[in-house]
Amino acid sequence: MSDAPEITQEAVDAAVADALAATAAAGSTADLKAARAAHSGEGSPLARLNAQLRNVPNDQKAAFGKLVGQARGQVNQALVAREAALAAAEDAARLEAERVDITAIAPRGRVGARHPVSLLQEEIADLFVGMGWEIAEGPELEHEWFNFDALNFDVDHPARQEQDTFYVDPPSRHLVMRTHTSPVQVRSMLERDVPIYVLCPGRVYRTDEFDATHLPAFVQFEGLVVDKGITMANLKGTLDHVARQLFGPEAKTRFRTNFFPFTEPSAELDLWHPSFKGGARWIEWGGCGMVNPNVLRAAGIDPDVYSGFAFGMGVERALMFRSDVQDMRDMAEGDVRFSEQFGMVV
Ligand code: PHE
Repeated sequence: MSDAPEITQEAVDAAVADALAATAAAGSTADLKAARAAHSGEGSPLARLNAQLRNVPNDQKAAFGKLVGQARGQVNQALVAREAALAAAEDAARLEAERVDITAIAPRGRVGARHPVSLLQEEIADLFVGMGWEIAEGPELEHEWFNFDALNFDVDHPARQEQDTFYVDPPSRHLVMRTHTSPVQVRSMLERDVPIYVLCPGRVYRTDEFDATHLPAFVQFEGLVVDKGITMANLKGTLDHVARQLFGPEAKTRFRTNFFPFTEPSAELDLWHPSFKGGARWIEWGGCGMVNPNVLRAAGIDPDVYSGFAFGMGVERALMFRSDVQDMRDMAEGDVRFSEQFGMVV
C-alpha cells in the first residue's frame, strides 16, 4: 500500500505525542472516548504502524515491535489514568450537586398546642364521663325559644334585653347567640329518654365588656340530671365531688339563694378554693338549682314522677382560680406564649 506509514522513531513519537495531547485535552469521559477511538482504536496512527510490523524484515521485527508496543502501552496507560481522573471528577461533581447538608437547621414552623381552656374543658368532660354521664351538644346559634322561652323566662325577663344578648338579623327569625348552655338542657330532655345524666360543655356569648374578668364569648359547662327521687342533696354531693376533683381534696362548694327562671329553688354556687393565691376563700363560680317543673313540662316530662337538678359554671373562671390567671383576656387572645405555660399538649 502506497500510503502505508513507515515505522520510524519520528512517526511513532509523533503518534504518541498526538495521542497524549488528545488524552490530556479530553475534558469529559465522552471526550476521552473519542480520543481513545482516534488514537488507540482501529485505524489510529499507532494501529496502522502496528499493522506495518508484518512488512518489517524478520531480523528487525523484535526492535520495531518493541518500539510500537511500548508506544501503544504508553498511550493506553495515559488513557486509563485520564479516564480514572475524569470519572472521579464527574462523581465528585454529581455528589456536590446532589448534596444534602444534614447539619443544616431545617426551617420549622412553631409547633402549636391545645389551648388550656380546651384542655380543662376536656378534663371536666372526662370527669363526668367517668361518673357515667353522657356528653350532649347544642348549637351556638340558638333559637330564642330554646335559649329563653322553654327555660321559663318571661317575655320581659331582663336577660333578654339587647344589652345582654346578641340578636342575629333578621329579628323575625328569633335567633340569638346562646347566652348560656342551658338550652342544651331542653334539647337533651326532648331528645333523650329519662333518666338523663348529661354534661353540656360549650361556648356561650354575652354582650359583656372584654376586660380582665369578662369575655363576650366564653365556655360554660352545664350539668343536667333528671331521674326519680333526685334531691338537692344529690346536686350538692355532685358539685362537691367535682370541686375536689378539679381543685384538690380540701375544695368544697356552698349555695347562696338566688333566682333563675328554670330552676326552683335556685342557688348561686360558690367554691372554696384552698390554694387560691392570696389565701383560701369563697369565690362565685356559677349557678344551680332543681329543675323548674315548668321546664320539665315544656319537655314533656311529668314533674310529679321525675325531678332533676342542673348547674352551669364557667371554664375560664375555673382556669383562673386553678392556675392563678390574673387576666381573662390572656385566654382569648390566642398568644402561644400563654398556652406554653400549661405545657405543649398536642
Ligand atoms: N344558665 C345559668 C347562667 O348561665 C347558670 C345555671 C345553669 C343556673 C343551670 C342554674 C342551672 O347563668
